[in-house]
Amino acid sequence: MVLGINPAKSRLVWCIVFLALLFPLLLLSYDIYLQQLGADPAKEIVKYLGTWAIISLWLSLWVTPLRRRLSFTWLVRFRRMVGLYAFFYSVLHLLAFATFIVGWRFEILIQEFSERPYILVGAAAVLLLMPLALTSTKKMQRRLKKRWIQLHKLVYLISILVMVHVVWMVRASYEDAIIYGGLLAVVLIERVVFRYKKSKSSQKA
Ligand code: HEM
Repeated sequence: MVLGINPAKSRLVWCIVFLALLFPLLLLSYDIYLQQLGADPAKEIVKYLGTWAIISLWLSLWVTPLRRRLSFTWLVRFRRMVGLYAFFYSVLHLLAFATFIVGWRFEILIQEFSERPYILVGAAAVLLLMPLALTSTKKMQRRLKKRWIQLHKLVYLISILVMVHVVWMVRASYEDAIIYGGLLAVVLIERVVFRYKKSKSSQKA
């Protein structure tokens, strides 16, 4: 049961989280429809979808430390959905880039890669997210067993690649990058501390 409530209410909470993460896309569609995206709509769309990709990814990363440190075990129920949203927004971010900036032209893509190498780092992150999304089902979890856990640890490498992607593109203010970096650092430090304590206690046993 989620939050100590019955399964029907738990499904309701699941639906609320689902709609809350879908809402930014509806908002973007509305802004596109009303042409309210400023002087450079292509750039705005790419940036907006990238922002929701990172927010979803970071939310999925925060589930484990919150479960371990604050016993928020109920959060685990949302992790798969939030992780899939990270993949969904990353793919939309990539598609928006390919459509509105590159125009699906190979020569422009090559030019973008050479002028903005951080795009290659972002592409690596999307590629690595793919096997995680494909194996996110309960069935795959059961089939892969320990290998599933090892595979899904890739999320830490992906988050570092995303961080490099974001920091590398900064031209003016580092404000967003510092917030993303701080939130990621807490997750990574918690993980290192947890591993260290676990290895010490298994040495003692
Ligand atoms: C093939 C994959 C990717 C491509 C081609 C790509 C491309 C881009 C480009 C061109 C921008 C700059 C937009 C601007 O001009 O301001 C950008 C921004 C951004 N990207 Fe990506 N990206 C990719 C993957 C990712 C992934 C996987 C994430 C996160 C999960 C991500 C998160 C972001 C964020 C947060 C920004 C905005 C940074 C800011 O200015 O605040 N990107 N991306």
